[in-house]
Amino acid sequence: MTVSNREAARRWDCSYHTAKKRRDAGEVPPDPDQTGPHFLDLPDVDHQDPEAIADAAAALRSEILKRDIRQAEVTIRIGDGLPAGVAWRADLHTGSLRTDLHAILRHNRIIRDTPGLYTGFAGDSWDNYGSSPNKRTGQHEAILPEEMQIAFVEESCLKYLRGKTLFFEDGCHEAWTFAATGTKPVKWLVRQLSGKGIKCAYLGHGGRINLLVGKQKYIIDTRHKGRGKSILHIFQSIFRSFKDDSDYEDLPHVTCHAHTHDSGHFKMFFRARWRVGLKPGSYKPTDDYGQKGGWAQTRPSMPVTIFYPDHDNIIVIDDIEAGARFLTAERERMSRLRNGVSA
Ligand SMILES: [Fe+2]
Ligand SMILES: [Fe+2]
Repeated sequence: MTVSNREAARRWDCSYHTAKKRRDAGEVPPDPDQTGPHFLDLPDVDHQDPEAIADAAAALRSEILKRDIRQAEVTIRIGDGLPAGVAWRADLHTGSLRTDLHAILRHNRIIRDTPGLYTGFAGDSWDNYGSSPNKRTGQHEAILPEEMQIAFVEESCLKYLRGKTLFFEDGCHEAWTFAATGTKPVKWLVRQLSGKGIKCAYLGHGGRINLLVGKQKYIIDTRHKGRGKSILHIFQSIFRSFKDDSDYEDLPHVTCHAHTHDSGHFKMFFRARWRVGLKPGSYKPTDDYGQKGGWAQTRPSMPVTIFYPDHDNIIVIDDIEAGARFLTAERERMSRLRNGVSA
């Protein structure tokens, strides 16, 4: 292709007249296509196909979620035709200065030795050391290293709670460990237990349990933190769970919210059926952080709900000792009835 004198001047970086003189003398201006640089294997940076990116992300997401053991809803069948109990436990704060580890073990033994009694852990199973600049990561008088705190919970399950543990949830301290390390310690623990023959659900920050006891289905919502609690009304977040606008059939029969260590429970007839609210309390009565806020000492209520298999009935008992006694008595009574012996 013929190159104009003006284009020749541009390529030589000289004046128009100089370019003309050089061309008249027989010189040929350089062809820019020949001068390079020529990149022979650059990636295609100009054509990132959004459809292809979306397809790749969807495929990866589906593979990752397939392997995620966290579930928002789990269905569990328990019991043997007799009443079954669940001891609601949370805020163990294993490893903190004032946490009574012997009380935790005593309760573990009661659950192990009581037929029909099960348990679950609604978060803050330990009191981690995790550090981070945001200063929200525990360090409230923990006296055991974090790995020993986790080992205590794991070994407790292995030693006492085989076939007795229904679920685990994340609490604040577990979330702080995740924030500091990128590892979800409860998810890790549940996988460890599964590998050692203890199957239980991992509900993340909370979830729904459809509990099948005999002919009955009981709907239970459990979370470490419930939204909307008031300092003057510790059950407010639980009431909210009963007031959802959805069909009454979908509302929980039992709601357990942990986190704040004040404990208690109630049973009320609301929206066409009896409903039970639970706050388990904590095995850590106080710590330096609580004292700074002027909070009163708390106690581990760890209430027990007893579910009947033959008719729709939930009884809630203050604590594990009394719950185990009542459950045993009720099972014996129903057993005698089943065998045709007068109660
Ligand atoms: Fe807690
Ligand atoms: Fe908490």
